[in-house]
Amino acid sequence: MSRSLVVVSNRLPFVVSLDEAGEPVRTNSAGGLVTALAPLVIKCKGFWVGWAGKEFTKDMQLPPSKDPTAIAHSIEPSQIIPIFYTDEIYKAFYNGMCNASLWPLIHSLPTLTIFKSEYWNSYLEVNEQYAAAAFEAVKQFEDLNDRNNLVWVHDYHLMVMPMMLKNMVDEANINCKIAFFLHTPFPSWDIFRLNPWANEMLLGLLGCDLIAFHTNTYAINFIECCYHILGSRIDKQEMLVEYGNKTIIVRALPLGIPYNWFENMAKASPKPFHCKETIILGVDRLDYTKGIIHRARGYERFLEKYPECREKVVFFQVAVPSRTDVDDYRNLKDELEREIGRISGRFGTAEWTPIKYIYNNIPQHELAGYYRDARIALITAVRDGMNLVAKEYVACQIADPGVLVLSPFTGAGETMHEALLVNPLEQEMLADTIKNAYDMKYHERKLRMNALQTREKLFNLDTWRDSFFDAVDLIDSVKKMQSLN
Ligand code: F6P
Repeated sequence: MSRSLVVVSNRLPFVVSLDEAGEPVRTNSAGGLVTALAPLVIKCKGFWVGWAGKEFTKDMQLPPSKDPTAIAHSIEPSQIIPIFYTDEIYKAFYNGMCNASLWPLIHSLPTLTIFKSEYWNSYLEVNEQYAAAAFEAVKQFEDLNDRNNLVWVHDYHLMVMPMMLKNMVDEANINCKIAFFLHTPFPSWDIFRLNPWANEMLLGLLGCDLIAFHTNTYAINFIECCYHILGSRIDKQEMLVEYGNKTIIVRALPLGIPYNWFENMAKASPKPFHCKETIILGVDRLDYTKGIIHRARGYERFLEKYPECREKVVFFQVAVPSRTDVDDYRNLKDELEREIGRISGRFGTAEWTPIKYIYNNIPQHELAGYYRDARIALITAVRDGMNLVAKEYVACQIADPGVLVLSPFTGAGETMHEALLVNPLEQEMLADTIKNAYDMKYHERKLRMNALQTREKLFNLDTWRDSFFDAVDLIDSVKKMQSLN
């Protein structure tokens, strides 16, 4: 296979940190993106452009991977093009534009959004850096005329770099497609236009040949943004946007999980809970979009309204530390821990703690045991692009089938209809849904879980990646079309 793929994402498939002796160490990541793309990059000897974390600086050598079981283990240092953020850039680009401006906006929480022109300036600067780095990688492709040359850009950190890159490859007369996948929701045009740089971001994205989202709703939202904000010509039926003399393909391609991998981990994982109570599980990055405080209060109402369930259940919440330099995230941690303390104090007894809380990363092979042994999973985000935890829980339900309680405001909620869908913003409904899940008989649990498992097994991570490349294959035929008419 020839060198023809560059993956571009804010994070590289590993993080570099310093060990106790001050030596850089590489910790390979294991998220969906890495699992899907690292094997491709390895196979075609492609490149990955991204950031290795704030402890990795320009004067350091990239440490080799020491963990042969990791998926990204065999990516060679020569295939990695690291991007470095100075402290100012880290604050203004990552904490600022990405996490304080764009994150709440794309999750339709505009009152949390802070816009500052210094954030935007650093967003432009970083996107230029990424475009230049990706261009350097493209120039190393074996055949610069090959129609299979592809740069695949990921996520909201990099929405303006596609047009910057397109201008570079066009000027150099290199044949290279640019595709984009957004791992978050995309909001309605009426929300997106609150962004003072909405035009620039949409135009930046239109440098792509293909733009893909988790769901049809997000894809249509994007198309409507192009219509209302840019005045582009659009075709909602065929999912196309026209910009200048170019037609851009828009697609909904829901991300799946490596189903068999999770199922096998669940078979091998040790027993995590040594208590007699029914386990109700929540697993989330500690993020205000995940609705963890609403969930804790819904659980509190459940204990209040159904006293017969007290001492029979334990709510186990795993919160993975995230974006700890951003004020909203720090405040959320404080508030959540106060709420958990209050609820535990209110209902706890000498023998029973109603909530167990872990603020840490749990390795995936251990987490698989948590998923397997939890009778109820509470995935009640107020907004979430997809939510892979819902899918991972389902894949790990290999024994007595549990119940998935799911928010319809997640991408997963658009397809996982056999879950108990509940609006997480209303405590009474949440409490009653937990009770329904608790009371659900084996036969119904089995029927629902079987249906969920069949779908996730079929539409897994490989299916997602293959359908992305099928959509890439459409680009040439669409390019031949002069106009939508
Ligand atoms: O879901 C969007 C996303 O940016 C993912 O790509 C990423 O894994 C996650 O959020 C965590 O965010 P961060 O990279 O800021 O830690």
